[in-house]
Amino acid sequence: MAEFIKAVEASKVPPETMLTVEVGGESVLLANVDGKYYGMGAICTHEEWDLSEGTLEDTAVTCAGHGTVWDLKTGKGVFDEPLQDEPLYDVKEEDGFLYVKRR
Ligand code: FES
Repeated sequence: MAEFIKAVEASKVPPETMLTVEVGGESVLLANVDGKYYGMGAICTHEEWDLSEGTLEDTAVTCAGHGTVWDLKTGKGVFDEPLQDEPLYDVKEEDGFLYVKRR
């Protein structure tokens, strides 16, 4: 995913919400924090729960599975010990759509 790929209408990710989308064969968690968009891998690297089922507070995503807190800015999460990092994605809004590109 070297270029930006169209993911979803921006209106589907209103402020303080998250949505998992399939883009370029990857599951991407899109989050809107106070109008700024973040993109991170959507499948928890602990036991593969969908992170969009968790809760969002500022840039912290708490997995609904077992409570790992992920940081949308770094892709890092700790469950007893650090888990495998989530990939991060750049997100841009254009013409009412969100586009993502893996970093
Ligand atoms: S699956 Fe996410 S914390 Fe266990």
